[in-house]
Amino acid sequence: MNSFVTGRRLARELGEWRSNAPAYKALAERVRVLLLDGRLSSGARLPAERELSQALEVSRTTVAAAYSKLREDGFLASVRGSGSTLHLPGHHRGEYALHHGLALDFSKATAPAYPGLQGAYAAALEELPAYLVHDGFDMVGLPNLRESIAQHYRDRGLPTSAEQIMVTIGAQHALNLVIRTLYSPGERVLVEQPTYPHALDAFSSVGARILAFPVRQDSGWDLQEAVLQIRRAAPSMAYLMPDFHNPTGLSMSVRERQYLAAAADREGTVLVVDETTALLDIDRGPLPPMASFSPNVLTLGSLGKVAWGGLRVGWIRGPRNIMAQLLRHRPAGDLGTPIMEQLAATALLRDLPSMTANRSLDLRRGRDTALGLLRRQLPQWNVHVPDGGLSFWINTGDVSSSALALAARSEGLGIVPGPRFGVDGAFERYLRLPFSYSDEQLGEGIAVLGRIAGNVGSHPLRMPLQAVI
Ligand SMILES: Cc1ncc(COP(=O)(O)O)c(C=O)c1O
Repeated sequence: MNSFVTGRRLARELGEWRSNAPAYKALAERVRVLLLDGRLSSGARLPAERELSQALEVSRTTVAAAYSKLREDGFLASVRGSGSTLHLPGHHRGEYALHHGLALDFSKATAPAYPGLQGAYAAALEELPAYLVHDGFDMVGLPNLRESIAQHYRDRGLPTSAEQIMVTIGAQHALNLVIRTLYSPGERVLVEQPTYPHALDAFSSVGARILAFPVRQDSGWDLQEAVLQIRRAAPSMAYLMPDFHNPTGLSMSVRERQYLAAAADREGTVLVVDETTALLDIDRGPLPPMASFSPNVLTLGSLGKVAWGGLRVGWIRGPRNIMAQLLRHRPAGDLGTPIMEQLAATALLRDLPSMTANRSLDLRRGRDTALGLLRRQLPQWNVHVPDGGLSFWINTGDVSSSALALAARSEGLGIVPGPRFGVDGAFERYLRLPFSYSDEQLGEGIAVLGRIAGNVGSHPLRMPLQAVI
């Protein structure tokens, strides 16, 4: 069934949509960007003209003209009696290709597979026969793998036993399982602003009421605000990335970790700490995991960034009582992590120091190359240099990142505009630019951005850095 977008929801998604262009054009353009970014889906029904004009406080003529522009451009189909339905033109219209036909796709901050990956699969294949006599449904993880993950935490100074680990099908699966297990309807959750888009998607999918607190490029986590919200709104969970936060690349200091963990414990908020990016250190050095400061923290991990996204092996570390609850809830969603991938992951973890060193070298090269290119070709952009992670979080000044993403797409370059990382359309003046690509790809991608940045919309913005839903 096609979804129906209410006037209020559309107004929220649109955020700051006005530009220097006539209002109807700016509105049509913004709806088109939302569709191309996947924030409105093809097939969704738009609100009636009257409803949208009220929600946006613009004339009905403006909305009618915007709809007819979208219709003319092939993005809206109107059927008498059943309203106007969004429509994503086919991929054969290369200029609007969403996922395909892009010469260069910087919409993913991922790195190529670790060179030792194939060897790890070869070792796994040798070990596989011993497992074929069992049924192969593994809901907690192979003992050796759980033990190696526990050892990884002990190596970071955090006592951990294998029973505290559940192996999952990546960190995204882990997060969904945590939400399904711990979240009850009507509860609030707290997230960083900006945050990882698919975490927002996961919380939205259960109808969670999302509160956000700022993580600022210059000053980091606004913990006063976080603690205020924890006290006032008593969210059941707070989702955080204290190590090489995606997208800013920032890390929380030891004192900040201590402070936040203590506040969450006092108020009974469970900290869900996503460490998917924690192994991507370039030149920061080790910091104690957040779970060192509270026994109640749930930590999500993954080999997706350090080894390969296609491996699909992650984990959850937590207190034993919660691990038991997670296990009870797991079969509703899946029946275990594949054995072959777990065997490969076990082999990879034996190699963890060289895997992280290899990743670190490559990320340093990418970061420094991209930084040099950005400084030469886009000197007006304010680029903060992270000491780890996979991307820059760039303040684009007056340039709208959604407009930039759209223009880049027609040049064959995929990039994710800032608002995808925010609640309520925030971060229109920010862009996530991954540097986890080859020098050649970085050269091509940044050249495209340099060419188009001067020609895309620049409009005054009143973007709230923090929004509470
Ligand atoms: C912060 C964060 N969490 C989770 C994920 C998803 O991880 P996985 O591929 O292990 O499901 C990603 C991947 O981009 C991520 O950046």
